[in-house]
Amino acid sequence: MKPSTFLAVGLASLPQAIAWGGFGHITVAYIASDFVLPETASYFQTLLRNDSSSYLAGVATWADSIRYTKWGHFTGIFHFIDAKDSPPSSCTVDFERDCKEEGCVVTAIANYTSRLLDPGLPAWERAQAAKFVVHFVGDIHQPLHTEDVARGGNGISVRFDGTQLNLHHVWDSSIAEKIVGGVRRAPYAEARRWADELSQGIRTGKFEALRGEWLDGVRLEESQEMALAWAREGNAFVCSHVLPEGPEAIVGQELGGKYFDAAAPVIELQVAKAGYRLAAWLDLVAKSIAESESDFGHDL
Ligand SMILES: *[C@@H]1O[C@H](CO)[C@@H](O)[C@H](O)[C@H]1NC(C)=O
Ligand SMILES: *[C@@H]1O[C@H](CO)[C@@H](O)[C@H](O)[C@H]1NC(C)=O
Repeated sequence: MKPSTFLAVGLASLPQAIAWGGFGHITVAYIASDFVLPETASYFQTLLRNDSSSYLAGVATWADSIRYTKWGHFTGIFHFIDAKDSPPSSCTVDFERDCKEEGCVVTAIANYTSRLLDPGLPAWERAQAAKFVVHFVGDIHQPLHTEDVARGGNGISVRFDGTQLNLHHVWDSSIAEKIVGGVRRAPYAEARRWADELSQGIRTGKFEALRGEWLDGVRLEESQEMALAWAREGNAFVCSHVLPEGPEAIVGQELGGKYFDAAAPVIELQVAKAGYRLAAWLDLVAKSIAESESDFGHDL
């Protein structure tokens, strides 16, 4: 697919639905704010200058809002990693092969985490880093943000409940929106409601037994390896659920029925996991900053 066509698709889908349709990103952020420690919440409320309970949700789509601006253009490639694998027979993310020299979502999570931890940067730059981290942890859990085929499915035309859409959009937005029965205009209230449900699932429901292993390998010192493992996990769904019969077979298909039934649990799982992991990650960041500040105090 020509880059110009890809750009046109990206721009055309901008106002309505941005990566994870905005809705997915905001839900991930609300779930994270349900699980962070109180001291983490107050650290980020201060940094982001928002003392409401929407301090993370309110910045969750910022990275999408700047990626098509002249200033933010360089960040476009940070939203994904294009795995050059061959679904459905073989799925994997290979860092050397798939991460562009200028970066990808894996290096972006590592880079903006280390900037968040850098006391030498002014607060506005650390706040910006926080906004990127909140967003990219969401992106890396969307299977088609870890796949090269047709630009992460942007070039594959399908139908969803009768509407012609591209496959990337279906996984960013349509499936999640259908799960909750449709999302209109400002998605904050709907996202908050969906987050309530998923957070409940994490606390005492269907995700409770899984949430421990979701945090395996979550270590500040290994942010890039951790992000790569997350990317591989999402990418595995490209073979099992996104393109189970390959890229050609899905063209023009109606995905609102059986396909949706199989995909919806994957979206729920990935959104819940992204939110829970983001909470753990922000806890580690806030703890590390608090510790280095108190060490500094002692030295003086
Ligand atoms: C905090 O963020 C929410 C969501 O964007 C917004 O509605 C609210 O006005 C913000 N509050 C402050 C104090 O900025
Ligand atoms: C890290 O982030 C800064 C600030 O946005 C950017 O200038 C730099 O290119 C990034 N580095 C990498 C390796 O992504």
